[in-house]
Amino acid sequence: EKAGYDYFMLKEIAEQPKAVADTLLGRIDASGRLTLDEVRIDAHTLREIDKIVIVACGTAFHAGMIAKYAIEHWTRIPCETELASEFRYRDPILDPRTLVVAISQSGETMDTLMALRHAREQGSKVLAICNTNGSTIPRESDAVLYTHAGPEVAVASTKAFLTQLVACYLVALYLGQVRGTKWGDEIYTVVRELSDIAKQVDQVLETMEPVRELARSLKDKNTVLFLGRHVGYPVALEGALKLKELAYMHAEGFAAGELKHGPIALIEDDLPVVVVVPSPRGRSVLHDKIVSNIQEIRARGARTIVIAEEGDETVVPYADHLIRIPATPTLLQPLVATVPLQVFACELATARGNEVDQPRNLAKSVTVE
Ligand code: F6R
Repeated sequence: EKAGYDYFMLKEIAEQPKAVADTLLGRIDASGRLTLDEVRIDAHTLREIDKIVIVACGTAFHAGMIAKYAIEHWTRIPCETELASEFRYRDPILDPRTLVVAISQSGETMDTLMALRHAREQGSKVLAICNTNGSTIPRESDAVLYTHAGPEVAVASTKAFLTQLVACYLVALYLGQVRGTKWGDEIYTVVRELSDIAKQVDQVLETMEPVRELARSLKDKNTVLFLGRHVGYPVALEGALKLKELAYMHAEGFAAGELKHGPIALIEDDLPVVVVVPSPRGRSVLHDKIVSNIQEIRARGARTIVIAEEGDETVVPYADHLIRIPATPTLLQPLVATVPLQVFACELATARGNEVDQPRNLAKSVTVE
C-alpha cells in the first residue's frame, strides 16, 4: 500500500500535486469563474454575512490562519480564526450573519465538532471543509466543501493540509465572486495561478535532496526555530508542529516581527532558524523587513535556513542554507513553502530513528475533547 515508499508520509507528501489538482477539479470553469454549487448556502445568505469565524485544530488551524488573510483581502469580510478547543468556552459572539467555517481532515475531531454545534445553536451557518465523506462534521454542517486529498494514513497531516488551503482559497474567491468585492484583475491572476499551482508543488518536490541532507546533518540538535511574516507566519507554525510531532524536538514558530519582543534572546551560536521569506514582488515592505530579521539573527550566531522565491538574490548573503521555491502570488505561497518543511521534519524523524507514520502519543483522529 505504500507504493514503494518507506512510509505513508513520504507517499502522501509525493501525492500533493495530485491532491491539489483533484481539489481544484471542476471548481473553476474555463472563464475563471468559480462553480461551487455543492456549497448549498444560498447567494442571498452569503451576501448578508458580516463576519466569518474559522474553527479548527492543529494543522487544520494553520490552514485557517492562512485563510483569514485570503478572506479578508479578497472579500473585505472581517474574519477570525480560533482554536476549536478554545472557542465555545469564551462565549463567542455569533448570530445568523456569522459564517462559521470548520476545517477538519478526519471530520471526527471532537473539539471542532463541539465548536460547530455551539455555533449552530447560536443560529450561525456552518460550512465544513473536510476530507472524509460522510463523517460527522460535514453531516452536522449546513454545507460542505470536500477536499480531495484521498485517504491520509500517516498521523502527521501533509496532503490534507495543502488541500485545506486550496479549499480555503476557493471559498474566499467564491465569496468575493458572489458578493462582487474586489473581483478585478488581481483575482483573475490569482485564479489562473491557483489553477496552475499543482505544477509548482511538483517542482518543489523535485528539488528536495539538499533539504533531506540538511535535515540529517541537524539530527543531534535540540531546538529549531521557525520565522515568518504574513502568511509565512502560519507556515512557520506548521513547520514547527511537524518537527515536534515527528522528530520530538523543541521547535517553535514565531512571527518575525515579534523577535525583538522576546524570542531573539533564544538565539545562540549555531542554532538552526528556518525563515520563510515572502515574495519581493507585491508586499515588498514585508520582504525587506524579514531580510533585516535574518541579518539580526545571523549577527547573533544563528544558522539561517532560508526559504525564498527563485530569483530573490537579496537573501543570498545571509543564508547559510538556501531553499528555493517557485514564484507565486503572496497569498498562495504557503502551498509551496510548506512542502520543504514537511520533507525536513520527515527526514529528521527518520535520522533520529523515530516511527514516522505513528509518532508517540498521537492518534490520527482525536475523538475526545
Ligand atoms: C498534525 C495533525 C493534527 C491535526 C488535528 C486536526 O500533523 O495531523 O494537528 O491536524 O488533530 O485534525 P482534523 O483535521 O482531522 O480535524
